Amino acid sequence: MSTPSFPFPQSLAEKYRPKTIAEFVGLEKPKRILAKLAAQPYASAWLFVGPPGVGKTSMALALASEIRGELHHIPSQKCNAEAIDKACHDCWYVPLTGGFHLVLVDEADRMTPAAQLALLSKLDATAFPPSTIFVFTCNETGSLEPRFLSRCRVIEFSSYGMAGEIAEYLEKVWCAEGGNGIGPDLIRLAKESRNNVRDALMKLEVELMTL
Ligand SMILES: Nc1ncnc2c1ncn2[C@@H]1O[C@H](COP(=O)(O)OP(=O)(O)OP(=O)(O)O)[C@@H](O)[C@H]1O
Ligand SMILES: [Mg+2]
Repeated sequence: MSTPSFPFPQSLAEKYRPKTIAEFVGLEKPKRILAKLAAQPYASAWLFVGPPGVGKTSMALALASEIRGELHHIPSQKCNAEAIDKACHDCWYVPLTGGFHLVLVDEADRMTPAAQLALLSKLDATAFPPSTIFVFTCNETGSLEPRFLSRCRVIEFSSYGMAGEIAEYLEKVWCAEGGNGIGPDLIRLAKESRNNVRDALMKLEVELMTL
């Protein structure tokens, strides 16, 4: 039996994941700050806070690639004290890529209390791994220790007022994917997705499959 060929072997969200900081839709402030950091990276810890699907994780990956950093990605729900110890231990070695290490911790608000405690000392100047940038992402900061928060530079990823820009972006994707002139109402689609770009691209993917 032959394998069926799917029209979308890769989701649109994956296919169109921005690779550089400048490529992101909206996010003017984060882009300005992170372009400066990418131009002159320094050992530091950052917390990207914002609603789902606005580009926090992708932005951290773009930063890693722009600084040619060695990436240590601690995925959602895997951030315990052991994972922190291991990543920080590895960061004491010269990065394979030469420049910087980038430790990315997704869903940082879900990390265990022990992981947060472990980080308190690691993020202090005396124990901070050299040439390392930490990026934590989360949707909200409520469950994070004030002592942890005060060791991070916080960047708000706001999607407020982005519907127009998202619609323009969806229009480009729609055309690039062979959509015809009478497409869906993209402003409405962006608004219905509450400016969650991932959700909007998922909806667009479904719309494209109706053609
Ligand atoms: N600002 C943006 N510009 C262009 N594409 C975006 C943007 N934000 C998100 N996307 C698209 O949505 C996908 C998911 O984004 P990402 O995983 O970075 O979101 P997130 O903010 O980390 O979400 P979550 O809080 O759910 O982890 C990306 O692969 C990309 O295709
Ligand atoms: Mg994410």
